[in-house]
Amino acid sequence: MTDHRALAWPPAPIKTERLVLRESAARDREAVIELNASPEVGTYLGGPRQHAELERTVPEVPGRRPGFFVVELDGATIGTIQLDPQDPESPANRLEAGETHLGYLFLPETWGRGYATEACAAALDWFAGALPGEPVVLYTQTANVRSMRLAAKLGFTELERFEAYGAEQWFGVWSSVAPLA
Ligand SMILES: CC(C)(COP(=O)(O)OP(=O)(O)OC[C@H]1O[C@@H](n2cnc3c(N)ncnc32)[C@H](O)[C@@H]1OP(=O)(O)O)[C@@H](O)C(=O)NCCC(=O)NCCS
Repeated sequence: MTDHRALAWPPAPIKTERLVLRESAARDREAVIELNASPEVGTYLGGPRQHAELERTVPEVPGRRPGFFVVELDGATIGTIQLDPQDPESPANRLEAGETHLGYLFLPETWGRGYATEACAAALDWFAGALPGEPVVLYTQTANVRSMRLAAKLGFTELERFEAYGAEQWFGVWSSVAPLA
């Protein structure tokens, strides 16, 4: 997919209180495969992918594109954050609300400690500096309670709910600029 955004990439690693966000490298390949093969991670994302298929298809350096962050805790890769252009081919896209959408995947053993909130907030902060005023959109299944809570904590506001992929989807938007009253 063509990325038309003028996103300066890669940034220097971003350090938060407990985490580091950085561009991906070859050493992240196993963690990326584990994330995509995990039944827990895949529950609301159309199911896990086959480990063997991932071993065949994931490139030597996974996620080598603007907006793809690896999240590190004490030197171990625990998740990924994607600030990707919306896919115009996707039946669920709402391109008019914003060109960039946020996605996140964290290893289940790291859930419940606030890492996703900490990392996504830092990624959005970086994005606000990179493309000031540019909105970010988010899709998530309403049944994905953890993701719904995360979206609210990050400051996404609901635009609409709709049916796609056989489930109710939540669609929200975030902006670093407060809307005019
Ligand atoms: C969605 C996902 C990233 C959320 O992970 P998470 O760990 O629940 O998210 P957070 O970082 O916000 O952690 C929040 C929890 O940590 C707790 N917590 C513990 N220590 C904390 C701290 N120091 N700071 C903040 N929260 C803390 C919070 O109380 C909260 O607990 P709760 O779940 O009981 O309410 C994770 O479930 C995931 O990877 N899911 C699979 C992928 C997916 O569905 N992605 C959606 C794509 S649209």
